[in-house]
Amino acid sequence: MTSSPMIPASPQPSTNLRGDVVVAGDKSISHRALMLSSQALGLTEIKGLLEGDDVLNTASALRHMGVKIEKNGDVWRVEGVGIGGLKEASEVLDMGNSGTSTRLLMGLVAPYPFTTFFTGDDSLRSRPMARVITPLAQMGADITTRSGGKLPLSITGTATPKAISYTLPVASAQVKSAIILAALNTPGTTTVIEPHATRDHTENMLEYFAIPIAREHTKDGTKITITGKPKQSVQNREILVPGDPSSAAFLVVAALIVPGSEIVVRNVCMNPLRTGLFTTLQEMGGDITYENARALGGEKLADIRVRHSPLKAVTVPAERAPSMIDEYPILAVAASFAKGESVMHGLAELRVKESDRLNAIIENLTACGVAARAEGDTLFVTGGAPKGGATITTRFDHRIAMSFLVMGMASREPITVDDATAIKTSFPNFVTLMNGLGGRISSDQAPSTKHQAPLVITIDGPAASGKGTLARRLAEHFGMDYLDTGSLYRAVGLKLV
Ligand code: S3P
Repeated sequence: MTSSPMIPASPQPSTNLRGDVVVAGDKSISHRALMLSSQALGLTEIKGLLEGDDVLNTASALRHMGVKIEKNGDVWRVEGVGIGGLKEASEVLDMGNSGTSTRLLMGLVAPYPFTTFFTGDDSLRSRPMARVITPLAQMGADITTRSGGKLPLSITGTATPKAISYTLPVASAQVKSAIILAALNTPGTTTVIEPHATRDHTENMLEYFAIPIAREHTKDGTKITITGKPKQSVQNREILVPGDPSSAAFLVVAALIVPGSEIVVRNVCMNPLRTGLFTTLQEMGGDITYENARALGGEKLADIRVRHSPLKAVTVPAERAPSMIDEYPILAVAASFAKGESVMHGLAELRVKESDRLNAIIENLTACGVAARAEGDTLFVTGGAPKGGATITTRFDHRIAMSFLVMGMASREPITVDDATAIKTSFPNFVTLMNGLGGRISSDQAPSTKHQAPLVITIDGPAASGKGTLARRLAEHFGMDYLDTGSLYRAVGLKLV
């Protein structure tokens, strides 16, 4: 699926994950932070931006369209060109693996009277774009694709875009956001109706940028109204990107299934349209509590404390799917360790993610000795004590790779993931962070961890001062191996007499 060399990774069974970590910035909010600050007039500073490949592809596309974006220490500085101020890119925009970059940027350029070309990697070139093409064509954009509505595609915007009223046929925040971004630069009032609520980071950030956007809950769903005023000025701001709940998900499930664990993940975005997984894990008996709940820049945040817990099976209703759409691979792993059969409804959208995730979950769980099957868009997983012992086919899908690395931390036999390279699209420091908590994932993705000297604590003191007891207790506490050198030299001495 990718032209770069495949890099396998393998976790060893782990115990006692411990620590307090800050997870990488939210991917969805990072894309929106770059795109909306590009539409401001003047400088916006962004802190906590996710520096994953997907977000870097958005930055690069905006630079090609005349936006100055640079990094200064930990701060990303975007010099916005204002609504209507983008320039035609003179190159094809390569969006790599990122569906969000492609679909949202298609919306952003749709009301510009110039042509933009988009392409991406094997995975992205196989994903459906018709869902954004239909509304953007209604707004006046002229879009040509490869057959089946696939990338590469060209989009020629119009100088006279039309405001539309559009009801989303699929629950997709990407489609909703593409229309909202196009509407910013379209005279008149555009309305989007979403029958099933999806993540609302675009709406929240527009409010934070003081751009008028109305939201109304009607019997048909949420009605979002935006009145575009081309050339209007957008206030520039400082944006603090909270941690990504979809990345925190891997740490949370690891702590639940690895015996003896207790971790805290700080500054996680707790937008209720993103937290379906945590609710589901709590229903499974997961000991998950929220601390320091607060609001920042239009989003809710909290620190999440998780302790190892015995899990029981769960049934997840279809209505919850939009609030955890990226989390089913890791939920399926949690379900493999739960007592009983878990049932997850409404998963049709998983077939068109970075890979056909429904198939990837079933194929790889089955290889690990877990009974898993689909009936229509419902997934069934029977839990217990997964055997593992397989090589996982990731299909260049970051969430499949990370989910099965987590599984291998608690399965009976080691697991190898065929290719961990895709992880850098969304969670570049995943291996380092997990190993910092006590995980034992070896991968060339994390050379700093692999080549790190092992931590050794030595204890010395006078005879009968309690060295052995202290060493044993420390080893138990930190989940480390324990070597009593006193016994060792006595055993060697005895052997020689
Ligand atoms: C995203 C929306 C979701 C999600 C994706 C990010 C976004 O996609 O799967 O990872 O940032 O808007 P859909 O809109 O296709 O459901």
